[in-house]
Amino acid sequence: MKQTVLVMFGGRSTEHEVSCVSASFVISNLNKNKYDVIPLGIDKSGRWHIYRGELENIKRDTWNDDKDNLIPVSGAAHGGVTAWDNEKKIWYLLPVDVVFPVLHGKNGEDGTMQGLFTLFDLPFVGCGMYSSAVCMDKVAAKTLCEAEGIKTAPFAAARNVPGFDMASFVEECERRFGYPMFIKPANAGSSVGITKARTREEFERGIVSAFENDRKLLVEQTITGKEIEAAVIGNDIPYSPCCGEIAPNADFYDYDTKYVTDTSRAYIPARIPREVAERVCRAAEKVYKALDCAGLARVDFFVDGESIVFNEINTMPGFTSISMYPKMMMYSGKTAGGLLDELIRLALEAKR
Ligand SMILES: Nc1ncnc2c1ncn2[C@@H]1O[C@H](COP(=O)(O)OP(=O)(O)O)[C@@H](O)[C@H]1O
Ligand SMILES: [Mg+2]
Repeated sequence: MKQTVLVMFGGRSTEHEVSCVSASFVISNLNKNKYDVIPLGIDKSGRWHIYRGELENIKRDTWNDDKDNLIPVSGAAHGGVTAWDNEKKIWYLLPVDVVFPVLHGKNGEDGTMQGLFTLFDLPFVGCGMYSSAVCMDKVAAKTLCEAEGIKTAPFAAARNVPGFDMASFVEECERRFGYPMFIKPANAGSSVGITKARTREEFERGIVSAFENDRKLLVEQTITGKEIEAAVIGNDIPYSPCCGEIAPNADFYDYDTKYVTDTSRAYIPARIPREVAERVCRAAEKVYKALDCAGLARVDFFVDGESIVFNEINTMPGFTSISMYPKMMMYSGKTAGGLLDELIRLALEAKR
């Protein structure tokens, strides 16, 4: 019996376009002898549609213009999603065995979608509601990791509330960390709203820009070292087979370096000694357990000589043909189809 896999893409986050490219990779690599694939796009206003057109339109994010191939979906339900039958003019239940939410960022990777599927007992690929929410929030993730003895960059958090005293917060950070410092929205991604501040003026502008993206921010001491990312897979017994390296070839790995200028280079495996790479993989598994992950995650570190510092975690990492997560998994011997089989098996096995 084939299983029906609902592959979700798009969404309302800043990572809508990346999600479409990721989903086209997932759809084209799912084994069609094992699965019936239903692509479900979320447009930028948040509406759900099953898309029956060409895969290329998903990849290029033009699927939403192809109106003849869009079927309205009103939401999730027990056993599947409710779709519109235009001939009979009725809503009907379209059965789904497992959901693959290839959604990055807000409203997709942050626990909201995961909570919805949990309510309806629909198995889904990736971390559960709590884990997704905690991993999305950099303050929460770092706090939990520190409690488990995992090293992270020293940081201070602030909330955009009426009593917030910017002047004393700036002074505290200057005293504790010194310039340059990183200012980040607690919940964001793709480096949106992140500033590297070298002066008090840049710092104050950085706070404004972080608060434009979230009501909570964190300021971090600058950590030197290589940017090393580890791929992790599994439920109760996670395993990281490999880590890779991103060389931004820029001041830092900001939005433009990620998506515009193309100066960054990826190295798989990472250009670090074998025993350090082993320790990074074990640290990634420790982070994964500390944050209650399931299915998959990419865990990012700064590595300087022997020092390994946790930076952040992505519970639905980029899944394009050039993305680190699938490339690291393939380097360690899996095929793209085999990786997806395993993620679906883990989704069906997970106890939510
Ligand atoms: N504490 C830090 N020290 C040095 N560089 C940092 C620090 N925090 C972030 N960066 C740089 O900023 C980039 C984006 O920060 P990150 O926390 O990974 O945010 P995002 O979730 O948007 O990817 C990192 O890849 C790195 O280049
Ligand atoms: Mg990052």
